[in-house]
Amino acid sequence: MAAIGVEVWSQAGEPHYAVTLDGEPVLSPSQMGFRFASGPNLEAGLELTGIDTASREEIWEQVWGERQFVRDHHNELAATFESETVEGGRITVRFRAFDDGVAFRFEVERGADADAPVVITDELTEFMLARSGEAWWTPANEFNRYEYIYSTGRVEEAANAHTPFTLRLDDGPYLSIHEAALVNYSGMHVDQRRDRQFEVELRPWSDGGKVRTTAHFTTPWRTLQIGDEAVDLINGTDIILNLNEPNQLEDTSWLEPGVYVGIWWGMHLGEFTWGSGENHGATTERTQAYIDFAAENDFVGVLVEGWNIGWDGDWFNNGDIIDFTTPYPDFDLEALAAYAQERGTRLIGHHETSAAITNYESQMADAFALYEQVGIRAVKTGYVDDAGEYMRRDEDGHARYEWHDGQFAVEHHQRVTELAASHRVAVNAHEPVKDTGLRRTWPNFMTREGVRGQEFNAWGDPPNGPAHTPTIAFTRMLSGPADFTPGIFDLTFERQDGARGVQTTLAKQLALYVVLYSPLQMAADLIENYGAHPQMFQFIRDVPADWSESIAVQGAIGDHVVQVRKDRASEDWYLGAITGEEARAIRVPLDFLEDGVTYEAQIYRDGPDAHWFDSPYDYVVESRTVTAADVLDFDLAASGGVAIRFAAQ
Ligand code: NOJ
Ligand code: CA
Repeated sequence: MAAIGVEVWSQAGEPHYAVTLDGEPVLSPSQMGFRFASGPNLEAGLELTGIDTASREEIWEQVWGERQFVRDHHNELAATFESETVEGGRITVRFRAFDDGVAFRFEVERGADADAPVVITDELTEFMLARSGEAWWTPANEFNRYEYIYSTGRVEEAANAHTPFTLRLDDGPYLSIHEAALVNYSGMHVDQRRDRQFEVELRPWSDGGKVRTTAHFTTPWRTLQIGDEAVDLINGTDIILNLNEPNQLEDTSWLEPGVYVGIWWGMHLGEFTWGSGENHGATTERTQAYIDFAAENDFVGVLVEGWNIGWDGDWFNNGDIIDFTTPYPDFDLEALAAYAQERGTRLIGHHETSAAITNYESQMADAFALYEQVGIRAVKTGYVDDAGEYMRRDEDGHARYEWHDGQFAVEHHQRVTELAASHRVAVNAHEPVKDTGLRRTWPNFMTREGVRGQEFNAWGDPPNGPAHTPTIAFTRMLSGPADFTPGIFDLTFERQDGARGVQTTLAKQLALYVVLYSPLQMAADLIENYGAHPQMFQFIRDVPADWSESIAVQGAIGDHVVQVRKDRASEDWYLGAITGEEARAIRVPLDFLEDGVTYEAQIYRDGPDAHWFDSPYDYVVESRTVTAADVLDFDLAASGGVAIRFAAQ
């Protein structure tokens, strides 16, 4: 096993750290420190005065997730730096070295008065890469928040990158820089100041301050996953969960992972509207049909967008018109919620805020009480607006515009999560703050977007290309579940030149259910489109959204990935494999299966002529009897896939 080393010291009064892997540098000397809006900084004049060490070996159980039992095994080193110039000033840097990464956070005392308000203007934390390499990133300062196609290039080209930020040092390990337990603080991205010198950049408030806190504060964890293989990054994400606080919810019995359908894709295709009129999507009649479909297929819910008053005006630019408790007259909320429960499924609520936060917060208590009253157990929220247009009204009623990943947004999400939990409602946030593992503490914050999802295949220019999902498996997905919304079966709608629409084969759409984890997983297409491929649809009926074990067995970023997971509710295993631009033969030893058990492998794979561009529907559904001793070979098409259920016999 590789050994990760951390060194920490004071260099001319400035705190520094460095990270090694098997003695070889990964991060060269990197600075740490803080600047504040007023009063002294904690940047220079800091001497290392104490080191404490500890270690932990613990296994804890997840309410739902990629695996049931998570191992937290780490050695801890807490280094205290005392300020020579600030009375009572000190920074304790707490490092935790895991088998596959290292993390650290700052516990800061800027003077003796713990509660004195302070404003952080700069966190000086650096990640100084020991050498060049390759990088995969989305740009941090653009209007569309996290919804970008990943850039791939040399490390030096990544000017400002969101996290998780994925890297590979030349001849060296794969790395992922991210953060864990983002609470009461601003989200970070990394800014490349000089070649390979990445500095933490905190998202500012509208007045320019970065974090509003008190003199004694604790930061989120800054995390560095390290792996020899790209798939080690996927398999190493428990670090993020281990750095979050344990579950705060006493009763979690009402949380229900599973597949849902929705009145949704039709609006993105332009067939229905969110607002009222003759093409209104959210009608009682259509919702009934979706409920019937969900009930017949044992799905957990039916999302309905555009059910509430507010979509008819200029909702996109004026979210203040949105009403979160009044349905349109052609949508009978109470009757539909009751009907869904009679049929053994539930409505899923929708709160599109259009990033008009004060308007939403003023109605939130009533909105969640309404959902609880009618038996809605999950809500999809949305914050459509450009980055930096997150609108709050200050005490004087003046509009202030915040960032979607600033401290205000972080605290807003926290308020929503806690309020929702008190009404037994789970949250699926679109245009969210990125995931930092808070689902361990608040398992009702089940999933989120924060990715260029399937919706871009309806109207994006360009749509998501073949390499997109095999890239996000190694980038965005390292932060946590994504509501990517797979399962489009009509892949060629309005296709004009072959290059528009969904750039995958049908088998790849199925494989995404296993590759891209979410405890709430959408079957995103119009329900009538599933009838065209009933054999393939069977996989969506079977696939769970809650696992007892997950292993990424092979892959290369942007190119392919093979993921296997074990169902939490049975002895069945599932496999999902996807490719990017190139067709590829894959060979999968089945040694992850239980020894001595026979399985029926129900295989949904690309056919011999499959290709995303001109033959996406060429597929084969077949079944074979296998054991752990077998090895399976598959030919995956360009932007193709294979999905398998291994049903234990
Ligand atoms: C953007 C979301 O990503 C999408 O899923 C939703 O339909 C629209 N906003 C409207 O709320
Ligand atoms: Ca979106």
